[in-house]
Amino acid sequence: MFKKGAIIFLAVLLVGVYIGLVLAAEKKGNDRKGKYLFRKNCRSCHVEGGSAKELSPVSKTQAEWEKAFKEYESLSCKDEWRKLSDQDRLDIFTYLHEHAYDSPSPIKCS
Ligand code: HEC
Repeated sequence: MFKKGAIIFLAVLLVGVYIGLVLAAEKKGNDRKGKYLFRKNCRSCHVEGGSAKELSPVSKTQAEWEKAFKEYESLSCKDEWRKLSDQDRLDIFTYLHEHAYDSPSPIKCS
């Protein structure tokens, strides 16, 4: 009797841990997808000689990217941001933030 209870307890625990891991993984954006999305959705304007000033991950520090993404509604290109899903914005943020100027792995060329 005790054994059966222990097995059920362990099974429930494992499922709980698994769900927790899946949720944690989803919360974090995807760096590689973010790079692609940034090129597709942002670099169209934010390139050298483009309609807006050139931007790449090293254009800002991590804190500056955090601020920009928190307050994107105040940017003049907010309509471009609104077209993106929350997940896409999170992916772009992850890419820019993880390779920011003061990050452990700043990008070498844009
Ligand atoms: C249709 C063109 C266009 C697109 C697409 C666009 N922007 Fe912008 N963005 C602008 C313009 C114009 C400005 C204001 C002038 C400037 O700062 O160059 C601006 C300003 C900004 C600023 C503030 C300037 C700064 O250095 O802090 C940030 C940050 C920014 N954009 C990020 C983004 C990101 C991230 C994306 C993709 C999700 C994006 N933009 C897509 C045109 C665009």
